[in-house]
Amino acid sequence: MHLFSGKKVMITAGPTYEPIDPVRFIGNHSTGKMGFALAQCFAEEGAEVQLISGPTSLTLNHPLVQVTNVMTADQMFAACQQHAQETDIWVFSAAVADYRPKEVAGTKIKKNEDTFTIELVKNVDIAATLGKQKRPDQFTVGFALETNNEMENARAKLLKKNLNMVVLNSLNDPGAGFKHDTNKITIVKPEAVETYELKSKEQVAQDIIASIKAEMACV
Ligand code: CTP
Repeated sequence: MHLFSGKKVMITAGPTYEPIDPVRFIGNHSTGKMGFALAQCFAEEGAEVQLISGPTSLTLNHPLVQVTNVMTADQMFAACQQHAQETDIWVFSAAVADYRPKEVAGTKIKKNEDTFTIELVKNVDIAATLGKQKRPDQFTVGFALETNNEMENARAKLLKKNLNMVVLNSLNDPGAGFKHDTNKITIVKPEAVETYELKSKEQVAQDIIASIKAEMACV
């Protein structure tokens, strides 16, 4: 019997790309590695996984993992809404763009002017919006990438997004965060803080799911 047999998990991963015109977008450096490692690890522990991913170069072939590829935050939100009810655990590891261009040009923008301004509007906060409809039997995990006041910001995120756990990466730790195969995390729960050493993202995924399992056994 595996740790998560019979459980359904929804994971967001990667960046989102917000189009400016047909050839340009606003994006970020997320590679999706952490989310894909989590999906693989959950599947190996017997969970059925819905992996909703922004643009990445990664692939995952596992009979228990269904991958939905999206581009924008709105598309990621729509895909999440489809699976939110039926899943027991939600893990929000995507680096969702906070803003998108208010208007998307239908044709390529020409460099006619010396300065150029793009008006941005706020994207939906997927974790916070779904957090409002979360049932008590559902368990949710968010990620936080902070540069300062890490612990305080992580605790605020637990409340603001109605999460059961926040996985904190500090940009102050060498080897953690974007563009690395390693990560150094701190897990923040309402009643506990767990610190871990610098590890491969696969090993970090195992630590995260062991911590989720321990916490779910208590609720
Ligand atoms: N998240 C999300 N949808 C968004 C933005 C963030 O689902 N539009 C999720 C991320 O996947 C992550 C968590 O929320 O799990 C933390 O995101 P972050 O951008 O660090 O937090 P914010 O509350 O937006 O705080 P900040 O003011 O630092 O941007």
